[in-house]
Amino acid sequence: MAKLASDGLDRILTLELVRVTERAAVAAARLRGRGDEKAADQVAVDAMRSELNRLPIDGTVVIGEGERDEAPMLYIGEEVGTKDGPEVDIALDPLEGTTICAKNLPNSLAVIAIAEKGSLLYAPDVYMDKIAIGPGYPAGIIDIDAPAADNLDRLAKAKGVPVGEITACILDRPRHARLIEEVRATGAAIRLIGDGDVAGVIHTTDPDETGIDIYIGIGGAPEGVLAAAALRCIGGQMQGRLQLNTDDKVARAKKMGIDDPDKIYQMDEMARGDVLFAATGVTDGNLLSGVRFARDFVQTHTIVMRSSSRTVREIKAKHQDLEKF
Ligand code: FBP
Repeated sequence: MAKLASDGLDRILTLELVRVTERAAVAAARLRGRGDEKAADQVAVDAMRSELNRLPIDGTVVIGEGERDEAPMLYIGEEVGTKDGPEVDIALDPLEGTTICAKNLPNSLAVIAIAEKGSLLYAPDVYMDKIAIGPGYPAGIIDIDAPAADNLDRLAKAKGVPVGEITACILDRPRHARLIEEVRATGAAIRLIGDGDVAGVIHTTDPDETGIDIYIGIGGAPEGVLAAAALRCIGGQMQGRLQLNTDDKVARAKKMGIDDPDKIYQMDEMARGDVLFAATGVTDGNLLSGVRFARDFVQTHTIVMRSSSRTVREIKAKHQDLEKF
């Protein structure tokens, strides 16, 4: 089996990945603010798929757009790449934040993670309960099963500030009403986001810039794996638990090798080994600028990282061959 070697191939792939998210982001950005989530998602999927199929990899989508029956392309289990390269697992979201893109609001991204075969969590497209913090804290200070107040208290102590100076990022959903009450009762602030919890988790890695210290709550499982992959590269702590709350979901998960429906996944169980992660901004956000369409070029802003070296690169690209874009 070809291996994702630490002495070359993966380094090349790191930069190859940038093209994949750039293309998806530009395609989606053309439909920013048009109020059509489906169309924006579809063009991003098409662009990401065609670019992925040019990569020298033998890749399998292990978590992404949905399962085969409901996702026409880039479904879980789909094989991509030229096959002349390493066997890799792929987690992807060609348009993370479809509604954000349709409304032209901040933080919609095209995003992908790649790791050696068997290294990314292979799971159905269900919800995942998540908790995440950025780097620089002692190990083990977050616990997905502990009350929010305990997690916030431990985090505040580790940061050396009162709980009132901690901000938690939570998706604005009715399912989080109790969590929101619990967090507010501690005196901590909440940044409620409409969508986009990959960015929500990544924002915990730079609280001085983003104002977010901790991410808590239930979002998509693909977004959870992608966020875990990003934190593996930047640093941080994360736990996730799939929401397998019906017999059907338990059965779908079992088919993918998940025997314990209540398992808590640590960050490095969701994304193991050498992980590559790339995200390109579709709309402007704290993390990345959105795609700019100028008269003579298209500009993209991408963050690309690799866990084994902990290298985090930002690439601002000017694409002048407008026929390709
Ligand atoms: P999409 O890109 O599929 O629209 O996901 C956006 C998102 O907000 C994710 O960031 C989040 O994980 C998930 O949706 C939450 O799901 P729901 O909108 O069903 O609460």
